[in-house]
Amino acid sequence: MNTEKGLTALVAAVSERRPPHAQFIQDAFRFLEPGERAEADAYISHIAADRSLEFLAESYETILDDTVKAQFFFMREGRYQFSRFEEVADSVYFNNEYMQRYMVGLAVTNYLWPNHVQIHRFFTETFPYDKQGSYLEVGPGHGLFLLQAMRKSRLSEFVGLDISAASLALTDEAVRAILPQARDRLRLIQADFLAESADDSKHDVVVMGEVLEHVEQPKAFLTRLRSRAADGAHVFVTTCINAPAIDHITLFSNEAEVEKLITQSGFSIQRQLAVPYFGKTLQQSVAARLPINVAYVLTP
Ligand SMILES: C[S@@+](CC[C@H](N)C(=O)[O-])C[C@H]1O[C@@H](n2cnc3c(N)ncnc32)[C@H](O)[C@@H]1O
Repeated sequence: MNTEKGLTALVAAVSERRPPHAQFIQDAFRFLEPGERAEADAYISHIAADRSLEFLAESYETILDDTVKAQFFFMREGRYQFSRFEEVADSVYFNNEYMQRYMVGLAVTNYLWPNHVQIHRFFTETFPYDKQGSYLEVGPGHGLFLLQAMRKSRLSEFVGLDISAASLALTDEAVRAILPQARDRLRLIQADFLAESADDSKHDVVVMGEVLEHVEQPKAFLTRLRSRAADGAHVFVTTCINAPAIDHITLFSNEAEVEKLITQSGFSIQRQLAVPYFGKTLQQSVAARLPINVAYVLTP
């Protein structure tokens, strides 16, 4: 009987189902630090208990296969397949079954894709653990960043705002399962961030991971984000460049394009990280239009 649990069990299951992919995830697994494995184990064990290990493996394969398909389109056509929110909304954000698999798969990539591991580490390293006050996250999706902020910080109130009911349900479930004592400090709001008016308060930590490439008006998102940041707030934003996915509709071609939007929205960049495509430099990735992940610590 297989008695492995958490990420170890998932890596074993995916390796068996996808032998050509086994080396990649086994190498990534070895690169993780013990704290990261413990976090991954908590999240994966919770999903496996509520659903199954097979569901986790299928979810990971969904994001793998859909990203490869989107990459082929991008290489052929030189653009993302869709450019309007309404072209992807019903099949992705409002499709409960698909969105659950997509977000659970994406959560797993935070531990098994070296580029996502590095972005996640940058979040962890730069997080202001001693800050007090409130936390806003736009687009928590799977809920991993929010969980981490709730688990480790001195912040007392947390707000998660997402357009997708499936994302909010996953975030809610994860907090209830992993940090049940903290659930009453979390408010979840289903809304389009640009249309939302229910929560116009300011926050001391503001996080928006992997949302800008999903929206038609990234500058309006950044401007709205700045309006929600209190004086001296810690703001953490990530996005990606030349990184096709089924629902990426805004294409950034280099870091300068992202940074221009950030500074035009009134933010100052305090720290930044750019993770080039595996085995390439940043310059090579830009020239060959290969994916780059970027993350920024900003002040309003
Ligand atoms: C790719 S996920 C990001 C998950 C996580 N933050 C991360 O960094 O991996 C994008 C999330 O943004 C949400 N989202 C997309 N458009 C939005 C909008 N207009 N307003 C609020 N949330 C939105 C999606 O529903 C999804 O949960």
